[in-house]
Amino acid sequence: MVGIGFGPSNLSLAVAIEEHNTRSPEKPVRAVFFERQKEFGWHRNMLLPATTMQIPFLKDIATFRNPLSPYSFVAYLHAVGRLVGFVNNQTFFPTRLEFHQYLEWAAAHFTDRVSYGAEAVGLYAAAPDHLEVEVREDAVRRRFRARNVVLSTGLVPRMPADVTCDERVWHSSRFLTEFDRLDRAGVRSVAVVGAGQSAAEITRYLHDELPSAHVYAVVPSYGYALADDTPFANQVFDPAAVDDYYFASDQSRQAFWDYHRNTNYSVVDDDVLRDLYRRGYDEDVRGDRRLHFLNLTRVSEVKRSGDDTRVLLMTGARPELEVDLCVFATGYAAMEPTGLLGDLDRYCPRDEAGHHRVERDYRLITGSEVPGAIYLQGGTEHTHGLSSSLLSNVAVRSGEITDSVVARHRTERRPVSSVIRSR
Ligand code: FDA
Ligand code: NAP
Repeated sequence: MVGIGFGPSNLSLAVAIEEHNTRSPEKPVRAVFFERQKEFGWHRNMLLPATTMQIPFLKDIATFRNPLSPYSFVAYLHAVGRLVGFVNNQTFFPTRLEFHQYLEWAAAHFTDRVSYGAEAVGLYAAAPDHLEVEVREDAVRRRFRARNVVLSTGLVPRMPADVTCDERVWHSSRFLTEFDRLDRAGVRSVAVVGAGQSAAEITRYLHDELPSAHVYAVVPSYGYALADDTPFANQVFDPAAVDDYYFASDQSRQAFWDYHRNTNYSVVDDDVLRDLYRRGYDEDVRGDRRLHFLNLTRVSEVKRSGDDTRVLLMTGARPELEVDLCVFATGYAAMEPTGLLGDLDRYCPRDEAGHHRVERDYRLITGSEVPGAIYLQGGTEHTHGLSSSLLSNVAVRSGEITDSVVARHRTERRPVSSVIRSR
């Protein structure tokens, strides 16, 4: 197997394979992974102080598949001598910094199977049962053969259509790198666009870090909306919800989205939301307002000239803002395999909405022209539901992919027409 990308999803897969190989040494799966970053990193540019995880620590990369795994978050805490201290915190939600340290600790067990600084650039058919993955490391390109390829390249940052990033206009996915480079002395006003968790966390951070600057939050709704993480709603992230979504009617799948999009998208956790409101209120009490919420407002365009940044606004009370920098926390598009598939893409059938068709075991449905199997970890919201881009189900999903690879080993490929109970 070749895994493309080594974020939490493929790290979890490496763990599942390792545990399978220990359990069944007679049927080992050999796997290598390629990661374009120079070292392991999980959304490093958003590792802001005091930000916390949005899943309980028990939804780590292994526990839901194997509660006895030596790669669980609890095993990590034990290994670094913080298990007792962590429990005294009485929380299910570690900081993102601590969870990052856990992921780095787990990734360190697999350095012999991961090439860092190695970007996959294309997939090719190689006769008769293998795919070839072309990988670029520095200027060198090499091809690797595999029966199974697992694509796990993550979310893709999304900017409004007519806005381009530069040294004063950033997407949230670049935030800390750009902010660390910034000469803060001349910064008197900043804008943060969006009303999701990224926007709220960055607004709070800039308000702390730039104590004399005006901070404008451009919010499309009438103030931030709360992320629903109450118990019934949370069931949409359960492993069992994947079957409920995958085998549901079109109407039921639509109902998942209509009722439960607010568990994840364009919403903010309770503590951050209340903190931001209180900050604004306290400034009013002091008669010194510098945190501004521009409600019911969207950005249409940004005009740049030298150090000047004019942000053009739609629908809100004012037509534009003049700021020193503007951060777009405007979210992400789902993982998209088309680019890597290259010529093979035309043998991968799509549904009426233009999405790739995917088996329940996360295998891309392909024509017989494509040898081997291509699995997707991410980019399957249309088939497998809301947890596709999240951590909630990575442990179980990785186990299912491992089981599928083992079960399919040395079996004949089925033609697309014979695939039943698939989307
Ligand atoms: P991820 O994006 O993490 O990893 C993909 C990897 O592939 C990257 O390391 C990338 O460099 C690499 N790559 C891309 N293209 C490549 C190529 N061509 N060749 C080689 N390597 C390539 N979810 C959740 O459930 N709870 C949470 O608390 C959070 N928190 C959170 C914070 C922030 C700031 C964001 C933006 C998102 C979250 N998420 C989240 C959602 C997030 O998608 C999830 O946490 C994981 O990052 C998903 O892991 P993946 O490994 O699938 O993607
Ligand atoms: P998001 O939830 O998709 O939010 C994007 C926001 O940008 C939405 O409010 C959207 O409004 C707005 N927007 C888009 N275009 C706009 C425009 N032209 N003008 C004004 N606003 C615009 O993205 P995110 O906040 O980056 O979150 C992505 C994922 O990362 C989520 O899963 C989230 O939970 C996760 N995350 C987690 C943490 C953490 O663990 N602490 C931190 C950050 C992010 P509309 O909806 O109206 O388009």
